[in-house]
Amino acid sequence: KNTITVGLLGLGTVGSGVIEILHDHKERIQHRTGCEVTIKSVLVNNVEKPRELPDDSTNLTDRYEDITRDPEIDVVVEVMGGIDHTLTILLEAIQHGKHVVTANKDLIAQHGAELFAACQESGSDLYYEASVAAGVPIIRSIMDGLSSDRITKMMGIVNGTTNYIMTKMSQDGADFDSILKEAQDLGFAEADPTADVDGLDAARKMTILSILGFSMPFNLEDVEVKGIRGLSLSDIQYAEELGYRIKLIGIAENDVNGVSVSVEPTFLPATHPLSSVNDEFNAVYVYGDAVGETMFYGPGAGKLPTATAVVSDLIAVLKNIRLGTTGTAYVQPQFPKQVMPKDQ
Ligand code: NDP
Ligand code: HSE
Repeated sequence: KNTITVGLLGLGTVGSGVIEILHDHKERIQHRTGCEVTIKSVLVNNVEKPRELPDDSTNLTDRYEDITRDPEIDVVVEVMGGIDHTLTILLEAIQHGKHVVTANKDLIAQHGAELFAACQESGSDLYYEASVAAGVPIIRSIMDGLSSDRITKMMGIVNGTTNYIMTKMSQDGADFDSILKEAQDLGFAEADPTADVDGLDAARKMTILSILGFSMPFNLEDVEVKGIRGLSLSDIQYAEELGYRIKLIGIAENDVNGVSVSVEPTFLPATHPLSSVNDEFNAVYVYGDAVGETMFYGPGAGKLPTATAVVSDLIAVLKNIRLGTTGTAYVQPQFPKQVMPKDQ
């Protein structure tokens, strides 16, 4: 197959970045995969809003069935967000034999097992690199680069919005609400930014990393979460006077007591490498028995970094289709066994 047809769900910050990268890197992608990518339809809430579409033949729709039931569409790229309604849409797409690429950590953290089981059933691929740390290829690194090792601990900054807020409070003395507004305008924050501020977004990402890194089930509800609401400028300044920085740190550990995951504002010595991770950047340490300590760093939110991960996932799907290996998803998490009866 030389042309792969995509249905895009969402045309906001990330969706417009996906279109931009597919346009700007069209020839490179074609060269690397042997495929041309066509975006046939795009799902949005408001079809009246003026938008830039990839080309004149692209349909804009507010009916998801136009994508999930279109036999010409090979891959559904979901960058719209949401949980229950989005799960329904993706399950329908998978039942219709489509491959799925998503940036949706809310969905993967809570319903990854269900989606994965549906994909196994239908022989579809499921890729979600952008769901954790946006432009940092942390999922591939854990699932591929470190797959020979036993990962014991992962620790880092996995939310760009809160890191941006804390950086600007520290550097400019700016107030919380105005920087949060800035982070929203820059496209870093979630549609409901309380998920960022209260640590839920970071908890979702640490849940995904734990399931993948430790190869065992883990529930979002079991993460101990504390966000940055209530953190004042004086807290940040006081920490700095003492030679510390406050960062929202996620820690996932797998030891003799089992798996424990937490997200909370943490005092770090100013000399600690995570103390110099600023703005919307993320960084994750991964500790393995054999490899020792590794660190992954890069932009953790924003249009083009996130879209880079999404389009790279799309390229992985294209390669699978070309190689005829569809159904052997590159990223195969060990989601809970009870939803994978074939494995029991
Ligand atoms: P935006 O709010 O900017 O865009 C969402 C898009 O989806 C809009 O085009 C909206 O339509 C459309 N949409 C939303 N809900 C529906 C619905 N029920 N039916 C039809 N269309 C819908 O979000 P982002 O681009 O920032 O984020 C998208 C996803 O990517 C989320 O899951 C987010 O968590 C994830 N993500 C975002 C990152 C970022 O830095 N922004 C980084 C990593 C992941 P309309 O335009 O009409 O409003
Ligand atoms: N709102 C998220 C963040 C986007 O700020 O990290 C990237 O997942």
